[in-house]
Amino acid sequence: MEKSMLDIIRQTADYIRAEVGEMPKVGVILGTGLGDLVNHIDIRKELDYHTIPNFPVSTVEGHSGKLIFGTLGGRYIMAMQGRFHYYEGYDMKQVTFPVRVMRELGVETLFVSNAAGGMNKEFRVGDVMVITDHINLFPENPLRGRNYNELGPRFPAMTEAYSAELIKLADKIAADGDIRLMHGVYVGTAGPTFETPAEYEYFRVIGGDAVGMSTVPEVIVANHAGMKVFGVSVITDLGGKDIKEVPTHEEVQKAAVKAQPVMTHIIKEMLAQM
Ligand code: HPA
Repeated sequence: MEKSMLDIIRQTADYIRAEVGEMPKVGVILGTGLGDLVNHIDIRKELDYHTIPNFPVSTVEGHSGKLIFGTLGGRYIMAMQGRFHYYEGYDMKQVTFPVRVMRELGVETLFVSNAAGGMNKEFRVGDVMVITDHINLFPENPLRGRNYNELGPRFPAMTEAYSAELIKLADKIAADGDIRLMHGVYVGTAGPTFETPAEYEYFRVIGGDAVGMSTVPEVIVANHAGMKVFGVSVITDLGGKDIKEVPTHEEVQKAAVKAQPVMTHIIKEMLAQM
């Protein structure tokens, strides 16, 4: 008999539990160029993705694939260094599989970070933006297909996809540290193309502040599973109908690396204070 998705999630969770022992209540997904957070974790145990049963293996340049267990801001967390993008060819179930496993392991709060292009005219390269909401423009919803009631409801609400309480905490930490912290709506697209000037303009007009190629699938699944979510984007380039600069993967990486200290500070302090 074919194994059900539930069995596969449980098999992976059982393996991780057996390898690591005690499980954290907080999970972190690190985006492009934002892996430096890992250097601040007091690491207890690391698992390479390729050693974890049923885990997809990441392929993109600049994304190493590791699941890291340790303490950050005095709190025990698990962090994904490297995520699975839809544009790499993974299907939505693969992209969101680690979130299912985290939930099965007892993770209740998910932190996600990404690099994004800014459409909001107030934004500058290097800004850090708290994601207050998203617009899902992926061609597919990760919850499409059979619903397992054990995992979550058929028609989950997305009214507070990003926890208002955690956003408030981030704002407080930014104010305390005199940090410029923007708020905005993240538009999630399949990629891998960056946007045309008309597309950046379109995403701005429909209510987006930043656009990227990740995060939305994981956040949908996390909400389906009843997790609290905090999301943050590093603005690595700007797009719009009057902007002629051409974004490149290298530039995105460089800008992300520069903004990392701010992102790390905010996440670390949130973990300490939540
Ligand atoms: N568009 C889409 N994804 C991105 C961008 C962008 O401009 N910058 C970083 N990720």
